Amino acid sequence: MQAVTRGMEKKIGGKALNWAELGFEYIRTDLRFSARWRDGQWDEGRLIDSEIMSLHEGSPALHYAQECFEGLKAQCARDGRVLLFRPELNSERMNQAAGRLLMPEVPIELFLRGVEAAVWENRAWIPPFGSGANLYVRPMLIGVGGNLGLMPAKEFEFRVFVSPVGPYYKQAGLAPITLAVSAMDRAAPHGTGNFKVGANYAGGLLATRTARQQGASEALYLDAAENRYIDEAGSANILAVTRDGSLITPRSAAVLPGVTRRSIMQLAADRLNMPTAERPIDLREEFDDFAEMGACGTAAVLSPIARIWFDGAWQVINRRELGNKIHGAGVVGPIMQELYDLLVGIQQGEIAEDYGWIHAIGT
Ligand code: PLP
Ligand code: COI
Repeated sequence: MQAVTRGMEKKIGGKALNWAELGFEYIRTDLRFSARWRDGQWDEGRLIDSEIMSLHEGSPALHYAQECFEGLKAQCARDGRVLLFRPELNSERMNQAAGRLLMPEVPIELFLRGVEAAVWENRAWIPPFGSGANLYVRPMLIGVGGNLGLMPAKEFEFRVFVSPVGPYYKQAGLAPITLAVSAMDRAAPHGTGNFKVGANYAGGLLATRTARQQGASEALYLDAAENRYIDEAGSANILAVTRDGSLITPRSAAVLPGVTRRSIMQLAADRLNMPTAERPIDLREEFDDFAEMGACGTAAVLSPIARIWFDGAWQVINRRELGNKIHGAGVVGPIMQELYDLLVGIQQGEIAEDYGWIHAIGT
């Protein structure tokens, strides 16, 4: 299909796509990468045209959720370079999930080749620098073929597709969100909460809908054992700035080890000289000590949290300091703003870094 990019607009098959208006939805791009594992080995993989997968009805991915996925973004830098952010960590995390679900690991070479090919061959779909949108990359690994009993699949597909996306939460850029503590648990202490497996998310759909019906952007999960410690949001990790200026994030065996939170924790320590800690966080005990809170992830980026619904009421973050200003849309705290600017600046190639986080492709 003919795609033409001009300023903030792209024409696809005669229909205009406005980068500035994109939400987080699937948009079909031209090509996707697909590799197959059979008889104990991966094939080379190739780019294919069709977004439709034809699966055996006995596929364990369909019955028993033997599947995992990843999420990362490709950005267009000011100078036109195409940048990925720490894709090796997505490869590592996919292989951890593969081990947990008895699936074959995807060698890092195959993972990166698939991601790079899917991004590069769809480069006309990468939103331009400064548009506020970017190209979301969705690698996935699924168990296919005819099975019936509870056994691992005999064949697997590794697929990578891409889609241009705007902000995950409705508001563009750095805008506050709200969370509602869920009465449902996301993950058991020794379950699969720390792996990016589809089953965790199917179980979270109802919690997300319930949170939205309560007027929140997203569900917040507390630990399943004591219903006390913060785990994470439905699609993002949690960060809090305490009144004494530390950045903390929950230590829990049930949360996804997020690439974004790991990066932000490091930036806070190295660039803002903040004390940082990953430790259990008791929501009710510690809430009044939070000066700022945020939800972070590839899709969520870093979204400040304005209010949380728990114990039958909306609890406002830092009401003491911010008072009534927080009502309505809420305000963005200074630390969240600084961390957001640093993170996004690095991801877009605007701020130099010497960690080796940026992975330029097609150069
Ligand atoms: N927690 C959950 C449940 C997620 O789905 C995500 C998003 O991928 C994250 C946390 C953040 O992880 P990352 O920063 O690697 O995207
Ligand atoms: C991501 O942030 O990459 C995710 O996978 C979250 C998903 C629910 C959109």
